Amino acid sequence: MTIKNICCIGAGYVGGPTMAVIAQKNPHIKVTIVDINAARIAAWNDADLTKLPVYEPGLAAIVGATRGKNLFFSTDIDQAIDAADMIFISVNTPTKTYGKGKGQAADLKYIELCARNIAKVATTDKIVVEKSTLPVRTAEAIKSILHNTGNGINFHILSNPEFLAEGTAVDDLLQPDRVLIGGENEAAINSLATVYASWVPQARILKTNLWSSELSKLTANAFLAQRVSSINAISELCELTGANVDEVAKAIGTDSRIGPKFLKASVGFGGSCFQKDILNLVYIARSYNLHEVANYWEQVIIMNDHQKRRFADRLIKTLYNTVSGKKIAVLGWAFKKDTNDTRESAAIYVTDHLLNEQAHIAVHDPKVPAEKVYTDLNYLNTRTEAENQNNVAVYTNAYDAVKDAHAIAIMTEWDAFKTLDWEAVYSTMQKPAFIFDGRNILDKHTMEAIGFEYHAIGQ
Ligand code: UDX
Ligand code: ADP
Repeated sequence: MTIKNICCIGAGYVGGPTMAVIAQKNPHIKVTIVDINAARIAAWNDADLTKLPVYEPGLAAIVGATRGKNLFFSTDIDQAIDAADMIFISVNTPTKTYGKGKGQAADLKYIELCARNIAKVATTDKIVVEKSTLPVRTAEAIKSILHNTGNGINFHILSNPEFLAEGTAVDDLLQPDRVLIGGENEAAINSLATVYASWVPQARILKTNLWSSELSKLTANAFLAQRVSSINAISELCELTGANVDEVAKAIGTDSRIGPKFLKASVGFGGSCFQKDILNLVYIARSYNLHEVANYWEQVIIMNDHQKRRFADRLIKTLYNTVSGKKIAVLGWAFKKDTNDTRESAAIYVTDHLLNEQAHIAVHDPKVPAEKVYTDLNYLNTRTEAENQNNVAVYTNAYDAVKDAHAIAIMTEWDAFKTLDWEAVYSTMQKPAFIFDGRNILDKHTMEAIGFEYHAIGQ
């Protein structure tokens, strides 16, 4: 089947960039991204390209070049579904917050709603592509809903997990290490492969069965997160023994079997995928009574929680065991640089911990607005919204955030933080002026020469 019309349900961090690149590389295909969130669709349609709801380097240019030509954003979900030959499901699959599997299993209600909606409105054959990260065998559930409630038409289900990382989404999409397509119907698989073949070399398009594809996504994220937790575990040992974790990472990373990537010790990994996917893996393993397997992977999360808590505790201990009434500047709120996404960001948990100790927090992030900071903290339900409002201030300028602070906690590795005028920062802070570098982006000797008490991870 030649694909002429694509619909993507979910205009988020995955659906938006992925479809923009598919549209750019396939000018002959009409791509419509739909969402139930009308405000989000309006933002995608904003004439001012700096107002797109997802910030990714290079994305605004692609949207600017394709929007209104063969890329469209709409809230008319039913119309877009019916017109499409191929439908990507790219909605959120958060961890369940209720009932069986609470705190671990993926909440599939948004996926199920999509499947039911497709079944209800489709009048012609469709290829349905799972883009969201899903527990293994979700395709089976989607298939069952489509086949039992549909209008008697043919649906082919494919799994096509997204491996893009935020902050580098456009580059990852333009030059993927691989594109993975899992499915049962060869013609359907080839139809999707043709869409990617417009710019991805054939050798990088891997075809597997459905379940391998679904499990590969969870496994890839689990392995990546495990590397971060592994180096973070070593960072604690480094702090006590006098070793330097960045030197250790470099030394082991030169072993070609280990490789240098994903060995940067940090205040802890965040993002919408790592924790969620590992919890998912753990839940699936437990559901098959594989307790050793479940415990093994769960340890990656336990280590990450420990790293975030340890960072906050070290800050408090160094500030003479109290931060009560002290101003702590939190630089960076996003879970990594070059994104405005804050899901599971270490900054949220470190700030929450410091607020419990009655600190006053001053936040600055180049891309995260104040409302998002408060929403993230309020979501934890640790204290009232009024208390968060009173004890947390958000600044659009880093120099205002650090003024009169007792300590700075660097939570995100934004390039802009490396080039701050650190002498000027020092001069406006309380003394002794402490820096807790949760990303190891500054040079210890330079900072100490200025006068700071500098504490990094694993040093
Ligand atoms: C991840 C996967 O990389 C991607 O393939 C998948 O599609 C989605 O999940 P993402 O969460 O966007 O992508 O970002 P990633 O670069 O993987 O970083 C995740 C977290 O780990 C961030 O908080 C990052 O700061 C942290 N990290 C990463 C480290 O602390 N150290 C490292 O060496 C690498
Ligand atoms: P991701 O990082 O996986 O892209 P996001 O939360 O950024 O996740 O985006 C998912 C999008 O899917 C949200 O904008 C949400 O409004 C949308 N969505 C969820 N359920 C549905 C649905 N049934 N129909 C249409 N859009 C949906």
